[in-house]
Amino acid sequence: MMTDFKTIIANVIAKVTNIDQKEIYGYIEIPKDISNGDYAFPCFKLAKIMKKSPQQIATEIKEKISFEDTISADKVTQGKGKMPMYNDENDSNDKITKIDIAGGYLNFYINNQYMTKEVLEKIENEEQYGKAINQKNKNIVIDYSSPNIAKPFHIGHLKTTVIGGALYNIYKYLGYNVTGVNHLGDYGTQFGKLIEGYKLWGSEYDLSEDPIDKLADIYKRINELCKEDEKVLDNCRENFKLLEQGDEYCTKLWQEFKDLSIKEFQKIYDLLGSKFDSWNGEAFYADKTDEVIQILQKTGNLQESEGAMIVDLSDKGIDTPCIICKTNGSTIYATRDLAAILYRSRTYDFDKALYVTSYEQNLHFKQIFEVAKLLGLDEKYTNGLEHVPYGFVRLSTGRMSTRLGNFVKVEDLLNDAINQAKKIIEEKNPNLENKEEIAKKVGIGAIIFNDLATSRIKDEIFDIDAMLNFQGETGPYIQYTYVRTNSVLEKAKSMPKFEDVDTDLLQDEYSQKIIKLIYNFEEILNQVIEKSEPSILARYLIDLSKAYSNFYNENKIICDDENLQNARVYLTFATGKVLKDGAKLLGIQMPEKM
Ligand code: ARG
Repeated sequence: MMTDFKTIIANVIAKVTNIDQKEIYGYIEIPKDISNGDYAFPCFKLAKIMKKSPQQIATEIKEKISFEDTISADKVTQGKGKMPMYNDENDSNDKITKIDIAGGYLNFYINNQYMTKEVLEKIENEEQYGKAINQKNKNIVIDYSSPNIAKPFHIGHLKTTVIGGALYNIYKYLGYNVTGVNHLGDYGTQFGKLIEGYKLWGSEYDLSEDPIDKLADIYKRINELCKEDEKVLDNCRENFKLLEQGDEYCTKLWQEFKDLSIKEFQKIYDLLGSKFDSWNGEAFYADKTDEVIQILQKTGNLQESEGAMIVDLSDKGIDTPCIICKTNGSTIYATRDLAAILYRSRTYDFDKALYVTSYEQNLHFKQIFEVAKLLGLDEKYTNGLEHVPYGFVRLSTGRMSTRLGNFVKVEDLLNDAINQAKKIIEEKNPNLENKEEIAKKVGIGAIIFNDLATSRIKDEIFDIDAMLNFQGETGPYIQYTYVRTNSVLEKAKSMPKFEDVDTDLLQDEYSQKIIKLIYNFEEILNQVIEKSEPSILARYLIDLSKAYSNFYNENKIICDDENLQNARVYLTFATGKVLKDGAKLLGIQMPEKM
């Protein structure tokens, strides 16, 4: 773990103000502009408690902190063993060199020499780098992707697959036990309809090709027929009942729809590199919903309403009741999700259970998280439930919706991106080897990055040409920067070791910008999981790429001065490593050349 300057600063301020360290820590910012220091403390946050103006507070805190204090405060934390330090002997080094007051802020400047050494030494050691491994025994369940069988995998599912996958990788990297669950939508009354449609028209379709499109077509037809003919609807209901009872014929058909669908989904997962630890979908919980109903009934939480069984949540500020059983007695999506919460608490003993879906499901998760509190679960579990919503994805033609029939196949989109990437590479670098493989990394990388680039709740426009722009804030831009670091290393011929690097030679503005970013990597990863927001890492990789481009343009790397070259080559290596590791956590693979 890197020296935690932020904690050092928080400790000192907490000590001199007598305010809770956690509170102080939460206020500390990293200024956008380096001329405002490395860390800034907004004193106005304390104006109310201290009953003083920010300016007064700033002056007072600054006066009370002598530099000796800084060092001793830092020793105090060390004594408590909270903060593993870089090197005990190094304590004679001031870790903070200057404190300034500017507009009600206290600006802290850290010891650049010290940080440079630490960052560049740690990066040589792969095992240590960026991993604050203090979470070994925490269990995280991430429910993501979770498409519906016999229905197209749409562009929204692409987004949950990518966001969930990134969260999965980052939690794992930070030492958590993670279980990735693909909660397939493979159950519900609609399968009674699909079975009926298949009985009627199945022979018209060849399901060996594009099975999902064909099943979707059958589904559309049977729905129309149901509207015209009440008797057909009865047959559908009967089919679903039979399926629930384990009827051989219905189960066989359902299994076939499921197998065909998974085979199609797998093509997308293969392109994206997505993996899951569990494929327990809704059907898995069909025989586990009784327990939910019984608990709710016993505890007097189940009510009848117009023939259905519901849990009223109005006193929880949720106007729409949660339906548990429909009028015909069948369970619904929510009931199976409740059974899944029980199952996951028992099977995975989760500390956190995340659900990555579009914000269209906000109400659903609000409801089931409330109802989960009525199931007698330990608070650890109910507190650990977290919905991770994301915004709509629109193609240039408008809202993506399978219902509107305006759907583009995700597999086609992915392949289109790969083909586009190939065209660009063909133009830019026609003699490149392994063009196919590189185009795949670039095309898929562009799509993944695009889904992660902006804060997840924002609606997104899906534009393949824009996401493939090598100069834009895109996946290919990061890949391109990485490839550039590679070619610098190649030109340098030999890779210096940390011991041979004179860190004094990396004190210029451009080098320091990179070093600070690399230092922040660990904090960035922690922010990602704290906010369930992989875009923080995506942004970071753009910032690092830009910082490297500036460094590259302003500093001659391959030069006559051997020491200078060594230092700059080493920094190039460090940048490339963080870019590659960071991109991998997002699910993006780096080409070595492009
Ligand atoms: N199958 C659902 C859909 O496509 C998403 C399921 C999310 N997971 C869950 N446990 N409800 O919208």
